[in-house]
Amino acid sequence: MKTIKRILLVLLVALIGIQFIRIDKTNPDSDPAKDFIHLEQPPDEIARLLKVACYDCHSHHTIYPWYTNIAPFSFWIKDHINHARSHLNFSEWADYDRGRKHHKLEECYEEVEEGHMPLPSYLWLHDEAKMSDQQIGNMVSWFRDQMSKYE
Ligand code: HEC
Repeated sequence: MKTIKRILLVLLVALIGIQFIRIDKTNPDSDPAKDFIHLEQPPDEIARLLKVACYDCHSHHTIYPWYTNIAPFSFWIKDHINHARSHLNFSEWADYDRGRKHHKLEECYEEVEEGHMPLPSYLWLHDEAKMSDQQIGNMVSWFRDQMSKYE
Protein backbone atom coordinates (compact mmCIF):
# COMPACT_ATOMS: atom_id res chain seq x y z
CA MET A 1 0.00 0.00 0.00
CA LYS A 2 2.77 2.34 0.96
CA THR A 3 4.59 1.71 -2.31
CA ILE A 4 1.46 2.31 -4.34
CA LYS A 5 0.88 5.61 -2.56
CA ARG A 6 4.45 6.62 -3.18
CA ILE A 7 4.20 5.76 -6.89
CA LEU A 8 0.96 7.72 -7.20
CA LEU A 9 2.53 10.69 -5.50
CA VAL A 10 5.52 10.61 -7.84
CA LEU A 11 3.16 10.42 -10.83
CA LEU A 12 1.11 13.33 -9.53
CA VAL A 13 4.18 15.47 -9.01
CA ALA A 14 5.40 14.56 -12.52
CA LEU A 15 2.01 15.42 -13.99
CA ILE A 16 2.05 18.80 -12.29
CA GLY A 17 5.67 19.34 -13.27
CA ILE A 18 5.10 18.78 -16.99
CA GLN A 19 2.36 21.44 -17.01
CA PHE A 20 5.19 23.98 -17.03
CA ILE A 21 6.40 22.69 -20.40
CA ARG A 22 4.32 24.69 -22.85
CA ILE A 23 3.93 23.87 -26.52
CA ASP A 24 4.62 26.57 -29.07
CA LYS A 25 1.26 27.82 -30.32
CA THR A 26 2.44 30.58 -32.59
CA ASN A 27 1.22 29.94 -36.09
CA PRO A 28 4.04 30.40 -38.61
CA ASP A 29 3.56 33.33 -41.00
CA SER A 30 1.69 32.46 -44.14
CA ASP A 31 1.10 34.18 -47.44
CA PRO A 32 -2.63 34.02 -48.32
CA ALA A 33 -1.66 33.92 -51.99
CA LYS A 34 -0.03 30.50 -51.47
CA ASP A 35 -3.03 28.95 -49.78
CA PHE A 36 -4.68 25.82 -51.17
CA ILE A 37 -8.27 27.07 -50.97
CA HIS A 38 -7.29 30.41 -52.49
CA LEU A 39 -5.56 28.70 -55.43
CA GLU A 40 -7.79 25.68 -56.05
CA GLN A 41 -11.13 27.44 -55.47
CA PRO A 42 -13.21 24.52 -54.20
CA PRO A 43 -16.99 24.98 -53.97
CA ASP A 44 -17.98 26.85 -50.76
CA GLU A 45 -19.15 23.75 -48.89
CA ILE A 46 -15.88 21.90 -49.55
CA ALA A 47 -13.82 24.95 -48.63
CA ARG A 48 -15.73 25.18 -45.36
CA LEU A 49 -15.16 21.49 -44.61
CA LEU A 50 -11.45 21.71 -45.42
CA LYS A 51 -11.15 24.56 -42.94
CA VAL A 52 -12.96 22.80 -40.11
CA ALA A 53 -11.72 19.26 -40.77
CA CYS A 54 -8.15 19.65 -42.11
CA TYR A 55 -6.70 23.13 -41.55
CA ASP A 56 -6.09 22.74 -37.79
CA CYS A 57 -3.35 20.22 -38.61
CA HIS A 58 -2.44 20.77 -42.26
CA SER A 59 -1.99 24.53 -42.40
CA HIS A 60 -0.58 27.53 -40.55
CA HIS A 61 -4.08 28.42 -39.35
CA THR A 62 -4.25 26.12 -36.35
CA ILE A 63 -6.78 26.94 -33.65
CA TYR A 64 -5.74 25.66 -30.24
CA PRO A 65 -8.69 24.98 -27.90
CA TRP A 66 -8.27 25.21 -24.10
CA TYR A 67 -7.44 21.51 -23.66
CA THR A 68 -4.32 21.96 -25.77
CA ASN A 69 -2.92 23.61 -22.60
CA ILE A 70 -2.98 20.32 -20.74
CA ALA A 71 0.19 18.22 -20.84
CA PRO A 72 0.82 15.49 -21.92
CA PHE A 73 -2.22 15.85 -24.22
CA SER A 74 -0.70 19.06 -25.58
CA PHE A 75 2.54 17.25 -26.61
CA TRP A 76 0.54 14.65 -28.47
CA ILE A 77 -1.48 17.30 -30.34
CA LYS A 78 1.57 19.35 -31.23
CA ASP A 79 3.26 16.24 -32.56
CA HIS A 80 0.27 15.59 -34.84
CA ILE A 81 0.38 19.14 -36.13
CA ASN A 82 4.12 19.02 -36.83
CA HIS A 83 3.79 15.70 -38.63
CA ALA A 84 0.73 16.78 -40.56
CA ARG A 85 2.36 20.01 -41.78
CA SER A 86 5.51 18.21 -42.83
CA HIS A 87 3.50 15.76 -44.96
CA LEU A 88 1.01 18.23 -46.38
CA ASN A 89 0.79 21.95 -45.72
CA PHE A 90 -2.14 23.72 -47.35
CA SER A 91 -0.59 27.08 -46.45
CA GLU A 92 2.37 26.34 -48.74
CA TRP A 93 0.49 24.84 -51.64
CA ALA A 94 1.97 27.30 -54.16
CA ASP A 95 5.47 25.99 -53.37
CA TYR A 96 4.62 22.42 -54.38
CA ASP A 97 5.58 21.49 -57.91
CA ARG A 98 3.13 19.94 -60.35
CA GLY A 99 4.02 16.35 -59.56
CA ARG A 100 3.82 16.88 -55.84
CA LYS A 101 0.44 18.59 -56.14
CA HIS A 102 -0.88 15.69 -58.16
CA HIS A 103 0.45 13.19 -55.66
CA LYS A 104 -0.90 15.07 -52.61
CA LEU A 105 -4.35 15.40 -54.17
CA GLU A 106 -4.32 11.68 -54.84
CA GLU A 107 -3.39 11.01 -51.22
CA CYS A 108 -6.11 13.39 -50.01
CA TYR A 109 -8.62 11.52 -52.07
CA GLU A 110 -7.47 8.14 -50.72
CA GLU A 111 -7.10 9.19 -47.08
CA VAL A 112 -10.54 10.79 -46.93
CA GLU A 113 -12.23 8.00 -48.85
CA GLU A 114 -10.78 5.37 -46.52
CA GLY A 115 -11.80 7.38 -43.44
CA HIS A 116 -8.19 7.87 -42.28
CA MET A 117 -8.49 11.66 -42.45
CA PRO A 118 -9.42 13.68 -40.51
CA LEU A 119 -7.66 11.61 -37.85
CA PRO A 120 -10.33 9.69 -35.94
CA SER A 121 -8.99 10.99 -32.59
CA TYR A 122 -9.59 14.55 -33.84
CA LEU A 123 -13.29 13.77 -34.19
CA TRP A 124 -13.67 12.99 -30.47
CA LEU A 125 -13.69 16.70 -29.72
CA HIS A 126 -14.51 18.21 -33.10
CA ASP A 127 -18.11 17.52 -34.02
CA GLU A 128 -17.97 20.11 -36.76
CA ALA A 129 -15.35 18.01 -38.58
CA LYS A 130 -17.58 14.95 -38.79
CA MET A 131 -18.68 14.45 -42.39
CA SER A 132 -21.69 12.59 -43.73
CA ASP A 133 -21.17 9.94 -46.43
CA GLN A 134 -22.42 12.45 -48.94
CA GLN A 135 -19.97 15.15 -47.80
CA ILE A 136 -17.14 12.61 -47.94
CA GLY A 137 -18.25 11.57 -51.43
CA ASN A 138 -18.33 15.19 -52.62
CA MET A 139 -14.93 15.96 -51.20
CA VAL A 140 -13.39 12.81 -52.61
CA SER A 141 -14.69 13.42 -56.12
CA TRP A 142 -13.60 17.04 -55.99
CA PHE A 143 -10.04 15.97 -55.03
CA ARG A 144 -10.07 13.48 -57.89
CA ASP A 145 -11.26 16.05 -60.42
CA GLN A 146 -8.61 18.46 -59.21
CA MET A 147 -5.87 15.89 -59.89
CA SER A 148 -6.47 16.12 -63.63
CA LYS A 149 -5.24 19.73 -63.52
CA TYR A 150 -1.77 18.46 -62.65
CA GLU A 151 -1.49 15.43 -64.89
C1 HEC B 1 -5.62 16.03 -35.97
C2 HEC B 1 -4.76 16.36 -37.04
C3 HEC B 1 -5.16 16.05 -38.47
C4 HEC B 1 -6.30 16.42 -39.13
C5 HEC B 1 -7.47 17.19 -38.58
C6 HEC B 1 -6.14 15.97 -40.49
N1 HEC B 1 -4.95 15.33 -40.64
FE1 HEC B 1 -4.17 14.57 -42.33
N2 HEC B 1 -2.52 13.91 -41.33
C7 HEC B 1 -2.27 14.10 -40.00
C8 HEC B 1 -1.01 13.48 -39.63
C9 HEC B 1 -0.40 13.46 -38.25
C10 HEC B 1 -0.50 12.92 -40.82
C11 HEC B 1 0.85 12.25 -40.98
C12 HEC B 1 0.74 10.83 -41.30
C13 HEC B 1 0.44 10.02 -40.13
O1 HEC B 1 1.17 10.11 -39.13
O2 HEC B 1 -0.55 9.25 -40.19
C14 HEC B 1 -1.46 13.20 -41.85
C15 HEC B 1 -1.35 12.78 -43.17
C16 HEC B 1 -2.19 13.15 -44.18
C17 HEC B 1 -2.00 12.81 -45.57
C18 HEC B 1 -0.86 11.99 -46.12
C19 HEC B 1 0.19 12.91 -46.67
C20 HEC B 1 1.44 12.17 -47.04
O3 HEC B 1 2.23 12.77 -47.73
O4 HEC B 1 1.62 11.02 -46.62
C21 HEC B 1 -3.03 13.37 -46.27
C22 HEC B 1 -3.24 13.33 -47.76
C23 HEC B 1 -3.90 14.02 -45.32
N3 HEC B 1 -3.36 13.87 -44.05
C24 HEC B 1 -5.05 14.69 -45.64
C25 HEC B 1 -5.93 15.23 -44.72
C26 HEC B 1 -7.19 15.84 -45.08
C27 HEC B 1 -7.71 16.00 -46.50
C28 HEC B 1 -7.78 16.21 -43.92
C29 HEC B 1 -9.15 16.79 -43.74
C30 HEC B 1 -10.27 16.10 -44.34
C31 HEC B 1 -6.86 15.87 -42.84
N4 HEC B 1 -5.76 15.27 -43.37
C32 HEC B 1 -7.08 16.15 -41.50
C33 HEC B 1 -3.07 14.81 -39.12
C34 HEC B 1 -4.31 15.36 -39.41
